[in-house]
Amino acid sequence: MLAPALDRVPRVALAGGPTPLEYLPRFSAAVGAPVWIKRDDIGSLGLAGNKVRKLEYLLAAAQAAGATALLTVGALQSNHVRATASAAARLGMRCVALLGDDRPSAPVGNHLLDLLFGAEVEFMGPLSWAELDAALVGRSAALQAAGERPFAIPMGGSTGLGAIGLARGYAELVDQLAEAKVEAGRVVHASSSGGTSAGLEVGRAMVGHGPLICGVAVAKTPGVLEDEITALANAAAGIIGLDRTWSAAEIHLDHDHLGPAYGVPTAEASAAIRLLARTEGILADPVYSGKALAGLIDLVRSGSDTGPLVFWHTGGTPALFDPHYGLPLAGEAVRTDD
Ligand SMILES: Cc1ncc(COP(=O)(O)O)c(C=O)c1O
Repeated sequence: MLAPALDRVPRVALAGGPTPLEYLPRFSAAVGAPVWIKRDDIGSLGLAGNKVRKLEYLLAAAQAAGATALLTVGALQSNHVRATASAAARLGMRCVALLGDDRPSAPVGNHLLDLLFGAEVEFMGPLSWAELDAALVGRSAALQAAGERPFAIPMGGSTGLGAIGLARGYAELVDQLAEAKVEAGRVVHASSSGGTSAGLEVGRAMVGHGPLICGVAVAKTPGVLEDEITALANAAAGIIGLDRTWSAAEIHLDHDHLGPAYGVPTAEASAAIRLLARTEGILADPVYSGKALAGLIDLVRSGSDTGPLVFWHTGGTPALFDPHYGLPLAGEAVRTDD
């Protein structure tokens, strides 16, 4: 089901094969519609996540360019940075990570894992995402001057090349849905730098049918994210020779579950995290997958979707261990004596 040109794009296998598609019987009963889950939160590399699919293509390009070091940027709890650090370890490459925060008093969550995977972490202070991407250019030049051949990966691994990893993932999902004889109407997922939404859109166009893509915006404002996804989808389609272009009006996003800002937990996301944990024993996180899950629950409870739906679990659970994000147990009496 892959476009022939996609099959020809060099790829390093990192994810460990197709990720499982599973039915969620107890969660489905609790929300009132059949829900399936695409388990990109588990895999062979590190603590997995959607970023691994992008890195399969980005790192093949890095290897082809003879890169000696991977250089990337992100927030303190960036899943993308952690995934890049683990992939660099797998491939025996140096990894330099610029984090747009002040150094915390102790490493936790993804930051701890970055260090465990051997990444060289540099704290840039609280920079905007645009400033961080600019810092990437400067650091890349400095590494080059020091004799390295750096391969710079922008925020979230969101480039046209990275996005085709999700196009491949969409084709994988459609095969699994056909095998399970499930006709799902929507795929719901967290959307931040846009590469995941873009790749899934391209995958749907490539396959020619399948569930609609519904990204839940967890970082960017209406308009901005649609434009970025459009540009990424058009770039990705160009790489695999798909004769299709998108306009921003074709990108459907849920902008109702971001809450006050990126990384600020919401009561709805915390409730969704608790529900998934207690009905299925599966973890979601407060920054990305929890907000997307809250969006999915609202789709069902508002009567907008009666299912079956697919929740694309993009990973991110290390942030559960950073108290900065607040615990999804907040408000409950937590016993610490047993
Ligand atoms: C766990 C998780 N889910 C979803 C996303 C969003 O993916 P994208 O940046 O491709 O929109 C990210 C990005 O950082 C993420 O870490």
